[in-house]
Amino acid sequence: MSAHPLRLGVNIDHVATVRNARGGSYPDPVRAALLAVEAGADGITAHLREDRRHIRDADMAALARTLTVPLNFEMAATDEMVALARTLKPHAACLVPEKREERTTEGGLDIVGGHDHLAPRIRALAEAGIRVSLFVEPDAAVMEAAHALGAPVVELHTGSYCEATVAGDAAATAHELARIVRAAEHGQGLGLEIHAGHGLTTDSVGPIARIPEIRELNIGHALIADAIFVGLPRAIRDMRAAMEAARAGSRGR
Ligand code: PXP
Repeated sequence: MSAHPLRLGVNIDHVATVRNARGGSYPDPVRAALLAVEAGADGITAHLREDRRHIRDADMAALARTLTVPLNFEMAATDEMVALARTLKPHAACLVPEKREERTTEGGLDIVGGHDHLAPRIRALAEAGIRVSLFVEPDAAVMEAAHALGAPVVELHTGSYCEATVAGDAAATAHELARIVRAAEHGQGLGLEIHAGHGLTTDSVGPIARIPEIRELNIGHALIADAIFVGLPRAIRDMRAAMEAARAGSRGR
């Protein structure tokens, strides 16, 4: 059996980062999103952070209005964000932990300790028809907790794996990859849909794309960075090619 197709969600946050460096409205994240879709993105992801450091409310509203592909609204599990999502009705909401001082999302959600905080917010999103995903560490106990919370999707945090690849540490890379494989198998066994992301590049994406349980990757920083050198459409096509080459060697489970 061949593996299921692997979707690519393009995260456009850092188009907004560049825009905000000078204020004003250029470059426009919505234009980037439309270009990304033309180049082969299956969906668009944007993270409206509490401090609005990149994507702003007006961007989210414009994306929700304009896109014809699924919009994945990355957000902290706060009442403010839940209310916004219920108004904008994106296809999906990915709940992430958020600390003001961090540069990016540094770890997965604490869904064991955070159960009582998360449960009503997951319910409120689901009631609005939004597909909820939890951004979590790749760990079997965490898969159980995500399943107990009733979320249909988990996104496995690939940050530690990517850091190990960048450090050239083969043992740590193998260890982190094995954690992701185990969590993906366990999560799918529970009926969860498995996504993954954070820190992926064309160099590190292959072994993750080869994991047959993973249905979607969300990638941002590397694509926007590569776009500086080769343009956004080419950066997306190169990432897709790396994903598909790896996937072709994957057998479904
Ligand atoms: N998935 C989640 C939940 C994230 O928070 C991020 C970073 O915004 C990504 C994927 C994409 O990570 P990167 O920008 O490193 O590709």
